[in-house]
Amino acid sequence: MGVVVYPGSFDPVTVGHMDLIRRAAGIFDQVIVGILVNSEKKSPLFSLEERVIMLKDACRNMENVSVESFDGLLIDFVRAKGSKTIIRGLRELMDFEMELQMAQVNRVASGGIETLFLPTDPRFSNVSSSVVREYARYGVSLPDFVPGNVLLAMEKKGILKSTKQEDQ
Ligand code: PNS
Repeated sequence: MGVVVYPGSFDPVTVGHMDLIRRAAGIFDQVIVGILVNSEKKSPLFSLEERVIMLKDACRNMENVSVESFDGLLIDFVRAKGSKTIIRGLRELMDFEMELQMAQVNRVASGGIETLFLPTDPRFSNVSSSVVREYARYGVSLPDFVPGNVLLAMEKKGILKSTKQEDQ
């Protein structure tokens, strides 16, 4: 079904993102994960380079998935990759409002690039990068929210407390 771009900030990539990438890879011939070089966020948890490395590592076993970064408009990146389709996950109604607007603007501004939505698996509906970042600010990691390699990267950053500690 062609090439699809899955864009995001991925700061950091979560298990919800990984589920979506896996499902998109089962539908499309090729999935290009586009990591936004986001200048807006003042204090990202991970640098762009770290995010690229972590995502490449997390996707290493998926043959039809590649990981790249992009700056500027998403529709320009999608065009440059020879794609006409964007994929995004929807967790809840609140996501939908923003996503609908983005999809509509991107379609009109590009003259036809479509956005497709996949509903998030209910197991991951409360998983978000912003919650991971918020906990990390207090030195606490959320092991169930991120892939193993991200957890290790967080430990290397000194984010050592885990919400799993009481269980051990
Ligand atoms: O993971 P996020 O932060 O929700 O992803 C948002 C993203 C990267 C998809 C969005 O901010 C984006 O596409 N930014 C690139 C700039 C752009 O094209 N903006 C116009 C959106 S209507």
